[in-house]
Amino acid sequence: MPHYYYQKYPYLNYNYRDTDGFIWTMFSIPPEMLVAEFANTFGRPPKTFFDCGAATGVIVWRAERMGMDARGIDIKKYPYQCSCYDELFKNGKIQIKSILDSEPIIADLVFCNGTLTYFTEDELAQVLDKFRPCKMLCAIHNTTEDVDAAKANGDELTTCNKPRLIRPRQWWMDTFAQNGFSPRYAAHLQCFCATPVRSA
Ligand SMILES: C[S@@+](CC[C@H](N)C(=O)[O-])C[C@H]1O[C@@H](n2cnc3c(N)ncnc32)[C@H](O)[C@@H]1O
Repeated sequence: MPHYYYQKYPYLNYNYRDTDGFIWTMFSIPPEMLVAEFANTFGRPPKTFFDCGAATGVIVWRAERMGMDARGIDIKKYPYQCSCYDELFKNGKIQIKSILDSEPIIADLVFCNGTLTYFTEDELAQVLDKFRPCKMLCAIHNTTEDVDAAKANGDELTTCNKPRLIRPRQWWMDTFAQNGFSPRYAAHLQCFCATPVRSA
């Protein structure tokens, strides 16, 4: 049986060296699939894209190549990245700082891969508030259901970072709603898609 992650996110994976010196595999969603989800909802593709937790820059690079104004942020600088992504860090399109220290994010589409699990509940509310100006937030991360499904598959879900918020899927749906988003779970992407609720 392939590792649970290969079953959950079969569309994009790539290797990278983390600050612990080890080579890890990153599982993600290609921006093309996120863009299709956005276009299905709004009838047009997004013009601007923000990767919160951009890591080595792979997703921002791919989003930029699709023609979007793509940016990102990450709290940590990875020890090695492909030279083609380097420019994104040099020209400031990807900044090294915490989203907690960032201004609100003005972007059509915000992507969070794993990132939301690294906060306390209080911090999570602050982070979601930063995304309120966006049109759609796409978030993927482990839930308690994932931990159980991985265990049933004989796998442990490991990550170099220390996640704090591993919660049931419904907890995430409720938390998005409590913080001013209208969430749904896009099962074909295994992704939470949340649109901010605007007051009339
Ligand atoms: C799983 S990686 C996402 C990689 C990339 N977005 C992708 O999909 O291929 C999650 C990233 O979130 C970053 N992260 C954790 N806490 C953060 C914070 N407070 N602000 C910004 N990024 C953070 C981690 O350093 C990590 O690189």
